[in-house]
Parts: sequence; structure tokens; C-alpha cells
Amino acid sequence: MNVLVTGGAGYIGSHTCLELLNSGYNVIVVDNLCNSNPKSLERVKALTNKDIKFYEGDVRDEALMCRIFTENEIDCVIHFAGLKAVGESVAMPLEYYDNNLNSSLVLTKVMRKFKKQNLIFSSSATVYTADNEMPLRETSRTGYCTNPYGWSKYMSEQIFSGLAAADENWSICLLRYFNPIGAHDSGLIGEDPRGIPNNLMPYITQVAIGRRERLSVYGNDYDTHDGTGVRDYIHVVDLAKGHVAAVKYATEHKGCEVFNLGTGTGYSVLDMVHAFVEANGVDVPYVIADRRPGDIATCYADPSKSAEVLGWKAEKNLQDMCRDSWNWQSKNPQGYGE
Ligand code: NAD
Ligand code: UFG
Repeated sequence: MNVLVTGGAGYIGSHTCLELLNSGYNVIVVDNLCNSNPKSLERVKALTNKDIKFYEGDVRDEALMCRIFTENEIDCVIHFAGLKAVGESVAMPLEYYDNNLNSSLVLTKVMRKFKKQNLIFSSSATVYTADNEMPLRETSRTGYCTNPYGWSKYMSEQIFSGLAAADENWSICLLRYFNPIGAHDSGLIGEDPRGIPNNLMPYITQVAIGRRERLSVYGNDYDTHDGTGVRDYIHVVDLAKGHVAAVKYATEHKGCEVFNLGTGTGYSVLDMVHAFVEANGVDVPYVIADRRPGDIATCYADPSKSAEVLGWKAEKNLQDMCRDSWNWQSKNPQGYGE
């Protein structure tokens, strides 16, 4: 079976390509490399001893997408391609809406044209409103996003669920990720953010390796067990395996379904710092700073629907996540850039 992976050279995409190849799927990637390095795919090929057909280009390029569907029999598409930095999206809303919405529109237009209508989409826990009870279920309230990135995920979900409602040939899984961290245990592929990391774990690993002086912990006066923000961190390899389960589901069922991909457990920022220090025996100096605008106190999933319907459950624990994040960072101090 052939799976087209848009954005497959990126962090989650490269780990998913690896799991797909190891599960016997053929993988075709389209990526414009705007936030990734082709070395990630070279390393996936080396790790699996299998080939990946790579198209360098933009998902918004309809002619290119038609060529990919003409040259390949595509059984399922996983759509990772998009811009993902929340803060940047506030400064550059047009670029975010253009990339994230037009890629979804062009992709689905071409899929419909070629009658290849099995789709897995990278959505995010960011689509849930801030006033929900925890844990978040797929039926929890969505919308009222606080930034263009979140709106672009919310609107893409609307586009996809509308397509499935209008045409019974669609089979769509909307996967709402919680906080992916960690790396493949080989240490050969991992997260390689450009510039100053926005997210907690890459910031921690860059402090530990000496690229940054200290971590700023954004607020210690939240209503949580130690006052710092609580999130549902999920190992990227578990997340990648969730996509393999979703591909199987989408090729066997019609309609549109939403799934949370999280562990169901929340850890605070200080829990993460302490677990990282303990797992790896390295120092992570930190200071308490002001709250980051737009952050909420607590966010974690109820992942039971994914377990029941997809037969998927996260298996790796916090120690695995901290160890594998550090293994990747310490083996690749400058990411793929070396
Ligand atoms: P990433 O930036 O590492 O990967 C995205 C990939 O898409 C990159 O390789 C980039 O070059 C490519 N790309 C972007 N726009 C493109 C376009 N128009 N055409 C072709 N390629 C394009 O990000 P990631 O962390 O791997 O995230 C993958 C997806 O998951 C994104 O849609 C992101 O919004 C979503 N997501 C990520 C997180 C997270 O915390 N990492 C959380 C929730 C959802
Ligand atoms: N944090 C710090 N210091 C930092 C970075 C983060 O204290 O330098 C804290 C944040 O305040 C928050 C926690 O660490 O409490 C996690 O922050 P991240 O930026 O790593 O993650 P977010 O939960 O804010 O958002 C991430 C992705 C979004 C995605 C969301 C889904 O960035 O794209 O998870 O839950 F939508």
C-alpha cells in the first residue's frame, strides 16, 4: 500500500515515515523543506534499509500534486505540511492562513479529482477552547482560538468534516496531537527547530547542551500542583505509530472521525525539568519568568477513543521521552545542521 506523506521531512513526518516503512507501507514524500532538512529522510532510509520517493515542492502547487497522483497509486495521504509556530502566526497571519489552508484545499481538490479520498490530518489540541473540563475528549468544545495557527487547524478541520459530510467517498481522520517530544531511539532523527525554540523540550535540551544559558519557566502561579503549566507530553514514536493505526482505519472505514493522540497524563514544567535532569544526569538551570501570553494552566487528553477505535495507545513513559530527547540532542548538537 502506498502512503503519500506531505511534510514528511519534518519532525513528526520523518518519524511517521519510519514507522510506515517498518510496517510494510511504501512511502512517497512531498515537502518544500521550508522547515526541515532532507537529511532526515536520508537517515530514515538508512535506518529502515528502504527507499522513499521524494518530491521537493509545495503542496499548494496543484500541478505538482496532480503529477504526484498521476505517477503514483496513492492509497492514503497523511497531511503534515504546514507552518506551526504559534507566536510567529500572530506576527504573520497571512502566511499561516495561506500555507495551512491553501495546502489543505489544493490537496483535497486533487485527491477528489483522482478519486483517492483517504486522508489523515495533523490537527492539534489547540483547537479546544480554554474553558473545557480536563481531560479533553473529542467531543469537548472547540473554537475561540487565540492565534491564527490555531484557527488554521480549526478551519482545516471544518473543511475536512464538511467534505466528508457532502461526499461519502471520503475517509478522513482528524488527529489532535497533544505535546510531541522525544526522538527515535537511534538518535539519528529528531526535532531540529530553527532559531530560538518556542517549545519546552527543545529549549531544555539546548540549555543542557550549552547552546542557551537557562530555561525561563513561564509562570509558577497557575492553579496546578507546583504552579507551573501542565501538558500531556507524548513520545513522537508513539505519535507516529498512531498514524500507522489511523492509516489502517481510514482505508477500512468511510466518514470523518476525530481522535486525540495523547497519553492522558499531565506533567508540569518543573516535573519535566526534574525528570530530564534525573534521566540524563545533566544540569538544566532555570529561572521563573512571567506567564507567556495565551498559555493555559492545564491541558491533557482523554485518549480512550483512540484506544477503543484505533487500537492505539501511547506506550513510552516520561523517562523514555527525556532520555531520547537528550540522546538526539547530544548526538546532534546543531541538529541536522552539522
Ligand atoms: P515540522 O515543521 O517539523 O514539519 C512540517 C513539514 O512541512 C516541514 O518539513 C516543512 O518543510 C513542510 N511544509 C510546510 N509547508 C509546506 C508546504 N506548503 N508544502 C510542502 N511542505 C511544507 O512540524 P512538525 O512538528 O513535524 O508538525 C507536523 C504537523 O503537525 C504540522 O501540521 C503541525 O502543525 C502539526 N502539529 C504539530 C505539533 C507539535 O508540537 N510539533 C502539535 C500539534 C500539531
Ligand atoms: N514553557 C516554558 N518555557 C519555555 C517554553 C515553554 O515554561 O521556554 C512552558 C509553557 O508555558 C507551557 C509548557 O511549557 O506551560 C509547554 O509549552 P510548549 O510551548 O512546549 O507547548 P504548548 O502546550 O504551548 O503548545 C504545543 C504546540 C502547539 C500545539 C499544542 C498542542 O506548540 O502547536 O502544543 O497541545 F497546538
